Amino acid sequence: MIRSRYFLTGYQSIKSKGTFGHESFPNRRHIQSYSIFEQNSLSHLIKDLQGSLKDVKHKDEINTREVLNLLRYYKGSSDIEWKKYSLRDPKRSYTRNLVTKITPFSNLLVLVWEPGKKSSIHDHPNSNCFMKILQGEIKENLYSKNTENKPILYRSMTLQENSVAYINDNIGLHSMQNDSDNLSVSLHLYTPSYQTSKSFNSDGLAVNNEMDYYSSHGKIN
Ligand SMILES: [Fe+2]
Repeated sequence: MIRSRYFLTGYQSIKSKGTFGHESFPNRRHIQSYSIFEQNSLSHLIKDLQGSLKDVKHKDEINTREVLNLLRYYKGSSDIEWKKYSLRDPKRSYTRNLVTKITPFSNLLVLVWEPGKKSSIHDHPNSNCFMKILQGEIKENLYSKNTENKPILYRSMTLQENSVAYINDNIGLHSMQNDSDNLSVSLHLYTPSYQTSKSFNSDGLAVNNEMDYYSSHGKIN
């Protein structure tokens, strides 16, 4: 009896935990069947994201709500599997680590943020950026562009550990910063992935940035 109680499918486990409140559950066909003891690891999140994204041919076909729910359901800070990807180069403001390609067009990254450091104000060209905070907290600043292409701050919020966020270029530009005295770590899904983004200064001048990875699949490049 005890065994049958705990060996539920992923979907049933989600339902029993009630972690989604009023939100709809991820589509059942995308959820793998696995033990409650091992469910919710990064490996299972990857499988579920692959299921959600495998038939996507265009960025507008992504089920944003489903992907957000999968990220919300992932236990994040209490998982240990992501730690092998959280490599850092302390000379950088933040270190980008490729975990894996979810699909040929979608990348999953772990970013490690140095204390007191921040990113530039940047775009996400023709892409969707999903984030989950794995450790610590990160402040996100959102910007629109005025007629002179200058970024105008319209909202700042501190994303706490395990919170989930989403941005694309229709929402605006953003910058992220670690205002704490400790390292922060975030998980990012970019779909479709991209090689170049634009950084903006306060005058609206933009420069292209090549997106590189400090490590791939847990090994320094
Ligand atoms: Fe970003």
